[in-house]
Amino acid sequence: MARVPLLHFLVLAAILIAVRVHAQPSPDVQKRISAAIKAAANETNIDYTAFVNPFIGTDNFGDVCPGASIPFGMVKFTTDMTGYAPAGYVTDNTQFVRGMSPLHDSGTGSSLGTYGNFEIMPLLCPKGFDTCTTKLVDRERFRKNNTDEASPGYFALTLDNNLKMEATSTRRAGLERFTFPKGSKPYFTLDLANDLPASFNGGSMNIDPEMGRITIGGQWGSSFGPGAFHYQAFACYDLLNNGNQTLSEYGVWTGDPYGLDAKGLGQTHLNLSVDLIGGVYESGALFSFAGEPETVILRVGVSFRSADQACANAESEVGTSTFEEIQAQSVALWNERLSKIEIDVANTPPNVTELLYSSLYRGALTPNNATDETQGVFENTTSFYFDSLYCSWDTFRTFYPLMTLHSPDTFAQIVDSYIDGYRKNGWMPECRANNLPGWTQGGSSGDVIVGHFAVNYHNEAAALGIDINELYAAQIADAEVNPPEWNVQGRQVDVYKEFGFVPFAVLDTASTGRQTREGSRTLEYAFEDFAIREVAQLLNKTEDVATYTNRSLFYRNVWDPSVTSDGFKGFMQKRFSNGTFAFTSPVDCSNNDKNDSRACSLQWNNVVGFYESSSWEYSWFVPHDTAHLITLMGGNNTFVKRLDHFFDAGYYLSGNEPSFQTPIGYHYANQPANSVDRVRDVVFSNFDITPAGLPGNDDQAAMATVLTWHLLGLYPVPGTTELLVLSPFTPKYTVHNAYLNVSTTVTVAGFDPKSVNGTIPKGAAAYVQSVSVNNQTLASRCHFDFYDTFRVGGEIVITVTANRSAVNSCGASVPQSLSTGGFASAR
Ligand SMILES: *[C@@H]1O[C@H](CO)[C@@H](O)[C@H](O)[C@H]1NC(C)=O
Ligand SMILES: *[C@@H]1O[C@H](CO)[C@@H](O)[C@H](O)[C@H]1NC(C)=O
Ligand SMILES: *[C@@H]1O[C@H](CO)[C@@H](O)[C@H](O)[C@H]1NC(C)=O
Ligand SMILES: *[C@@H]1O[C@H](CO)[C@@H](O)[C@H](O)[C@H]1NC(C)=O
Ligand SMILES: *[C@@H]1O[C@H](CO)[C@@H](O)[C@H](O)[C@H]1NC(C)=O
Ligand SMILES: *[C@@H]1O[C@H](CO)[C@@H](O)[C@H](O)[C@H]1NC(C)=O
Ligand SMILES: *[C@@H]1O[C@H](CO)[C@@H](O)[C@H](O)[C@H]1NC(C)=O
Ligand SMILES: *[C@@H]1O[C@H](CO)[C@@H](O)[C@H](O)[C@H]1NC(C)=O
Ligand SMILES: *[C@@H]1O[C@H](CO)[C@@H](O)[C@H](O)[C@H]1NC(C)=O
Ligand SMILES: *[C@@H]1O[C@H](CO)[C@@H](O)[C@H](O)[C@H]1NC(C)=O
Ligand SMILES: *[C@@H]1O[C@H](CO)[C@@H](O)[C@H](O)[C@H]1NC(C)=O
Ligand SMILES: *[C@@H]1O[C@H](CO)[C@@H](O)[C@H](O)[C@H]1NC(C)=O
Repeated sequence: MARVPLLHFLVLAAILIAVRVHAQPSPDVQKRISAAIKAAANETNIDYTAFVNPFIGTDNFGDVCPGASIPFGMVKFTTDMTGYAPAGYVTDNTQFVRGMSPLHDSGTGSSLGTYGNFEIMPLLCPKGFDTCTTKLVDRERFRKNNTDEASPGYFALTLDNNLKMEATSTRRAGLERFTFPKGSKPYFTLDLANDLPASFNGGSMNIDPEMGRITIGGQWGSSFGPGAFHYQAFACYDLLNNGNQTLSEYGVWTGDPYGLDAKGLGQTHLNLSVDLIGGVYESGALFSFAGEPETVILRVGVSFRSADQACANAESEVGTSTFEEIQAQSVALWNERLSKIEIDVANTPPNVTELLYSSLYRGALTPNNATDETQGVFENTTSFYFDSLYCSWDTFRTFYPLMTLHSPDTFAQIVDSYIDGYRKNGWMPECRANNLPGWTQGGSSGDVIVGHFAVNYHNEAAALGIDINELYAAQIADAEVNPPEWNVQGRQVDVYKEFGFVPFAVLDTASTGRQTREGSRTLEYAFEDFAIREVAQLLNKTEDVATYTNRSLFYRNVWDPSVTSDGFKGFMQKRFSNGTFAFTSPVDCSNNDKNDSRACSLQWNNVVGFYESSSWEYSWFVPHDTAHLITLMGGNNTFVKRLDHFFDAGYYLSGNEPSFQTPIGYHYANQPANSVDRVRDVVFSNFDITPAGLPGNDDQAAMATVLTWHLLGLYPVPGTTELLVLSPFTPKYTVHNAYLNVSTTVTVAGFDPKSVNGTIPKGAAAYVQSVSVNNQTLASRCHFDFYDTFRVGGEIVITVTANRSAVNSCGASVPQSLSTGGFASAR
């Protein structure tokens, strides 16, 4: 999902932030990374984790979680802060630390935050047990400035009272290490009820002082879905560090912000139902250790199934391993992931190296692998299971296409989880949040995700555990079966099929949903239908190909040729069921909208017809038939002028998914050098290596992966096997696809580091002159196919030149479009 607050608010906030000094993280983080990049120039055994800056996107509403995690880990340990902090952590040093907890998402813009359950806070209670500050408002503290630390598999933060918290993790467990000032008695409070969205729905806690074990279980609510839904979660804290620590006092407490602050020394049990009258009700455990140990280690296991399983996870995944051993295991797993793309570090600008590996890192941080941790309708599933598909509308465009380059096995596991959603719920998940169905954004974008897998890996699908016929059946269910409530799954297909678009103000007696976003839903539904058409073609289902080709052209039904804006004619618009267009200004909900309070997201009063976008922005979204869009817009010249105006006038939003492909739109008008210029500018104007270095919410690495494609000089067309060719920011990179047992090296002949700039200087070679694949020069320098390149492996040479005007055409075919005979057969 993109952010819930208004775009205007965020733009304003970004300006405010630019003048704020955050004093986090520790300057050592960047120093260490810069030194590692420098040293790597002459190394053969490269530690790619040393290039990763986990703090990119932890400011400026990037909502990135810098916590300790393994690739796709269910556990991501980080501290939870007060204020707007959906991922728990933010750099803002005016916010307090509430504690540290094991469950988080990364890059989700939920306004309330997500997870943050089972929070622990180390305390100094010089006057003893009864004086400990257990309640949130009492225990919250500032950090010591310039001390926050993180690297793949490790997170640390030091409070202003010099208590240091560190963590490292496995998939479902981990170790927390706390350092106390000399001569102090270590106390800890551990929450039963609190989570970030304050959604507790009842639960219990048990202290077993003999075993030195605290178990917690309960129900909490979604961070981005119906409040009526709840998920269960469990934790197991082992306090004795394999017998090296001795428990002193222990007990339970309850509190509220209005005077309740009760503690029970020696009590071992809390069992609280939901507080039906509402309000904040806090509760938890309080314990201390004998002696005055400077270091305390706690072992933590979590589960979505039971407290017993949470303990078993800690035993099997951590056991008696040391902090350093668990951290080293995590680093090894990260290196395996990150080394799937290797670059020429010596000749790549250092910021590009850091941006690339930090992006690849986040591209493997989510979704959270909760296989064998299923609940609800998935309780007994034998499929893989991923939590936090949050949301498919964000990730279908760049996240899964990037995974396609190198990790079909991982992709297959996630596809299995999507198909299993269809098996258990009747539709594939659109926005699974906290193990629950979250709000639908564009429709059923999972159709594009599984379709992308099918067209790229149908030869391997069976071996990877995917039945393409079942995958297709899941797509067809999304496309044909009208759900009772399209807010949470499926699409409003009955009326879409009847009218050829999603009508505004229609009488729909078959399904419930919030009557908004009719323009953008029509565009997304049509593209989802195209992805289904591609799989139908693969399966030789001739009739279905005709049906879904036709439906994929429904985008034309919301094109109103009469609307003008800034001198350009024709815009996508919502439409009444009688066919009359329901006019809204194409500027509404753009950055140029003068009305700051207009509803643009899921709100019932969003009447502009588009989701978190303007019509100016969404009117470009026809990735499968841009050739016809060019005709609708008045031909190549007008199309190019309109693209230029779109960027120059500020309608483009780099941090918004519908805009992802727009900078490369020039390729379709046969002017690929314009795309190269545009992408250089987009990268340098919107991304950098600082915590504020993302243009907003990472959206579960949607931003990380669109940036990766830009740096690699490629762009994927989702749901297809086509890749658009641009100008890489690095002279050489190799993509390893271990499953196919192939490696592909892309070399930029004539690479000029000076061209790696927001504005390409005159004389710097950056424009694609020719592309050769395994010594064969391609006719078109604008696109190639996955089957001819990264699937076979070998050498791709992109020759660049400074002579822009000589190469500002594709030389042969422009990228494919349906209406000009493109996508004619499956590979
Ligand atoms: C790498 O090795 C080359 C040649 O030995 C040397 O000139 C260069 O200074 C070294 N670079 C670094 C960063 O150590
Ligand atoms: C951190 O630095 C800020 C100034 O940037 C200062 O106001 C604040 O008191 C410092 N915090 C601590 C805990 O020292
Ligand atoms: C903890 O205790 C075990 C024996 O129970 C011992 O082998 C180990 O060295 C101790 N570890 C530490 C960190 O003291
Ligand atoms: C908590 O109390 C409820 C009744 O209020 C009971 O049904 C439930 O079994 C108890 N749970 C635990 C874990 O003790
Ligand atoms: C690298 O990033 C830092 C931090 O944003 C910035 O100050 C510096 O100018 C960048 N260097 C280049 C060459 O872009
Ligand atoms: C899972 O299996 C158990 C034991 O057979 C059964 O009680 C439960 O209802 C099943 N859950 C689902 C969602 O089918
Ligand atoms: C997810 O976890 C399961 C169970 O441990 C494992 O088999 C699978 O490989 C994991 N997948 C990823 C992508 O981490
Ligand atoms: C579809 O038809 C092509 C060409 O006849 C054939 O090679 C392919 O195996 C067929 N695929 C399926 C799934 O039937
Ligand atoms: C279609 O319906 C809308 C909304 O009821 C109405 O404003 C418009 O006049 C109707 N158009 C025609 C041609 O009847
Ligand atoms: C745009 O340019 C391409 C490539 O030159 C050409 O094939 C296409 O017909 C042009 N489109 C229009 C609408 O003129
Ligand atoms: C981009 O080029 C300008 C002008 O030559 C130069 O001042 C600037 O440092 C360059 N930026 C980067 C990131 O190299
Ligand atoms: C390309 O040609 C060069 C020079 O003839 C040769 O060394 C190389 O092996 C060829 N590469 C491939 C992938 O065919």
